[in-house]
Amino acid sequence: MDFTKKHKISVMISEEDIQKRIAEMGAEITKRFEGETVYLVCILKGSVFFTTELAKKIELPMEMDFMTVSSYGAATASSGVINIKQDLTGDIEGKNVIVVEDIIDSGNTLSRLLQYFQSRNPKTLTLCTLLDKPDRRVVHDVVVDYTGFVIPDKFVVGYGLDWDQRYRNLPYIGFVEE
Ligand code: IMP
Ligand code: MG
Repeated sequence: MDFTKKHKISVMISEEDIQKRIAEMGAEITKRFEGETVYLVCILKGSVFFTTELAKKIELPMEMDFMTVSSYGAATASSGVINIKQDLTGDIEGKNVIVVEDIIDSGNTLSRLLQYFQSRNPKTLTLCTLLDKPDRRVVHDVVVDYTGFVIPDKFVVGYGLDWDQRYRNLPYIGFVEE
């Protein structure tokens, strides 16, 4: 792929639809954790827009934390090895941890992250993803609690998702026309 040329991006999910769905997810999470405090973890960089939007729709006392994880580089397939580039800043033991991911593809990243979070003894561990591409799943033991949209097997960009670090700032989810 020639990254010097401009790609044609088609809209898959509009900004309006994304926002509507995130509001619904926020309401569900608010209900589920009524009376509790939650610890929202943004998995950078892809989840940044989703996390901030979701956080505003969760009407509960909240702590927020950020973790930078990488698995891909410039390739478009997961290696199965995750690299924690920046760890959490707080202690999650005994807390209601909600992990916010941009997309589940092979499931490798989330599966590794789960082991990582579980080993730190949270009170509850909840997984939340904006997108799910089930056709590409390799790891099947990952149960996601909240999913925004189930999408077909296409490489998507925008709303935080990148292609070799580009297109994160698109306000919608789009796919690259070949
Ligand atoms: P997995 O480990 O294969 O489940 O991949 C998860 C990570 O791969 C996500 O957090 C994304 O960073 C990246 N990824 C997977 N599919 C896409 C895509 O279609 N567009 C952009 N990034 C993707
Ligand atoms: Mg990612």
